[in-house]
Amino acid sequence: MKLREFVKGIYTVGVVDWDRRLFDSLIPLPDGTSYNSYLIKGSEKTALIDTVDRLMPNVLIDNLNLLGIKHLDYIISNHAEPDHSGAIPQVVAKYPEAKVVCTPRAKDILIDLFHLPAEKFQTVNDLETISLGNRTLEFIHAPWVHWPETMLTYLKEEQILFSCDFFGSHIATTDLYVTDEGRVYEAAKRYYAEIMMPFRTQIHKNLEKIEEYQFKIIAPSHGPMYNRPDFIIKAYHEWVFDEPKNIVVLPYISMHGSTRKMVDYLVSTLALRGVKVEQFDLSVTDIGKLAMALVDAGTIVIGTPTVLTGPHPSIAYAAVLANALRPKAKFASIIGSYGWGTKVVETIAGLIPNLKVEIIPPVICKGQPREVDYQALEKLAETIAQKHKENGFK
Ligand code: FEO
Repeated sequence: MKLREFVKGIYTVGVVDWDRRLFDSLIPLPDGTSYNSYLIKGSEKTALIDTVDRLMPNVLIDNLNLLGIKHLDYIISNHAEPDHSGAIPQVVAKYPEAKVVCTPRAKDILIDLFHLPAEKFQTVNDLETISLGNRTLEFIHAPWVHWPETMLTYLKEEQILFSCDFFGSHIATTDLYVTDEGRVYEAAKRYYAEIMMPFRTQIHKNLEKIEEYQFKIIAPSHGPMYNRPDFIIKAYHEWVFDEPKNIVVLPYISMHGSTRKMVDYLVSTLALRGVKVEQFDLSVTDIGKLAMALVDAGTIVIGTPTVLTGPHPSIAYAAVLANALRPKAKFASIIGSYGWGTKVVETIAGLIPNLKVEIIPPVICKGQPREVDYQALEKLAETIAQKHKENGFK
């Protein structure tokens, strides 16, 4: 249960999901998550901002009952993904008088998801407002955070931004507001990396769009609220606008130790040249950690053995993931070994067309690495260090 009044007449009524460990059947959730829903009472009308996951509508309905809500005017759907829209059918059933307020694009998605009649909806244009009497909701269209239909809701009088997934973090907590900024920075960065980074260009535009607003509170749809909003806005600016850093991210797999020897050598050689490396053995890696590292990487080096002439399947998976996440790295390379024949370079290159990277010549050796291969790794490290320096990566 998560039912609290944090400003007079404004309540959290969503769900803390302490036990969930996987999202979208893909993303690890080491710290659980929450599906935040907010109830705003105005002098004339009442609005609910987002609902909760489709598996937990009863918690939201119980909270509305506890508050004694007999009448609801608006269900604001900032984002149609079912972890926030999933309880709309139950809320609509309980409050048949309520209108679902959303962008035109969200209306189509919600009708497809829940087969609700079109007359249940009230679509809003960018910057349109709705009055609750003494309170005003302004709807800021913010597409691609991280679906095409997303919008933000700004409560003007109290300067609260209900930001849907934008600025969110997967953390289950009893805290209403961020108390440990270090912990939330880490979780919000993981969230940004997994969910928002592929849409960095659009996130850039949306950050610029909200620059003219004043915020006392940012209330996202996952994780605790921010009563010091500058903290998360500054972090997003860093992730979106800053140049890549002097970091190599090195996901790898080794089957018989040859690729591992090359990885160890390259990592030491890069470190000696002042380049930081984040190394991930994909047989045991939390992909969220890998995604976070990719936010800042200047260069990605993939280490792979050859399996049936191609890369190890775990490497192919990581390459597809990196291609989807579109990190801002500017350089990439491949290292690895093979026993009798290989096409790993061509295959991996074909898996990462979205990455706007310059490929630094790979180092692929036959069997165990020899002196000539170590020399090639030295050259690779020198080239990476030089390119990072030329590009001013700090
Ligand atoms: Fe938290 Fe995109 O849903």
